[in-house]
Amino acid sequence: MPTALITGASAGLGAEFARQLAVKGADLVLVARTTATLDGLAEELRTRHGVDVQTIVADLSAEDDVKRVAERIADDGHPIDLLINNAGFGLPLHFADNDIEDEVRHLRVHVEASMRLMHAAIRAMRGRGGRIINVASVAGFISRSTYSACKSWLIGFSRWANAEYSRDGVTVTAVCPGFTHTSFHERMGLAPGEEGIPAIMWLDAPNVVREGLRDAARGKAVSIPSLRYKVIVALTRVLPASLTSGVARRGRV
Ligand SMILES: NC(=O)c1ccc[n+]([C@@H]2O[C@H](COP(=O)([O-])OP(=O)(O)OC[C@H]3O[C@@H](n4cnc5c(N)ncnc54)[C@H](OP(=O)(O)O)[C@@H]3O)[C@@H](O)[C@H]2O)c1
Repeated sequence: MPTALITGASAGLGAEFARQLAVKGADLVLVARTTATLDGLAEELRTRHGVDVQTIVADLSAEDDVKRVAERIADDGHPIDLLINNAGFGLPLHFADNDIEDEVRHLRVHVEASMRLMHAAIRAMRGRGGRIINVASVAGFISRSTYSACKSWLIGFSRWANAEYSRDGVTVTAVCPGFTHTSFHERMGLAPGEEGIPAIMWLDAPNVVREGLRDAARGKAVSIPSLRYKVIVALTRVLPASLTSGVARRGRV
């Protein structure tokens, strides 16, 4: 049975990745900070699907916790076949008004932890094969504060790593969702409807995850779930950055 390690598995897209992979019979390693939620999901998946589920409680903004997760990935006795770097959170867009330590934690979770876990995974998977999914965002195609910059890093690095390591049997896919119903915006203090985003722009987590897993299985470097957002991303390539940044100021992806 393949084994997948998913960060940010206690809620939203991460929990949905866990559910869809368990249905396919994958064993799982679930990583997040909230012990009770992780344990509850692990028990549900073991009972419903008969898969093996391990949990690792870790704060991915803390160096020692990231090292523990990297060590699990490097454990050749219990190989990880699919790494999903999904954990993340949003900050208010006003960089200069944010606490710099919050910005550093944000950078660590989105970029540093993902990079360290990929480093461990690619070393372990080279030769024997494996897949990596980095959950980025359509925000990574536009300019909007540090969130966009972090997601751009994930997209750019995934493109290069997919080309570089697919010859060694390791594929790397940046899955780039648009606005998706999860607890992401609520955790930022926004009640449903307060985000100022039209209903048509919202995606459902099961569809995003299904499309992301399908594109990763095909070895794509970048996956943009839904036709709507494929069109939007195509437009960002031809419209001036000043225009796309202006439109992006309206909402939070
Ligand atoms: N929802 C959207 O509209 C949207 C759009 C594009 C991209 N994304 C991206 O999708 C990914 C998943 O977000 P989501 O929408 O599913 O949000 P979510 O429902 O809020 O889930 C976020 C997950 O990340 C975990 N997490 C947050 N900080 C962490 C930390 N320091 N250490 C370990 N785990 C941490 C949370 O678990 P604990 O709190 O238990 O640690 C939770 O499991 C993120 O990378 C986000 O940027 C979301």
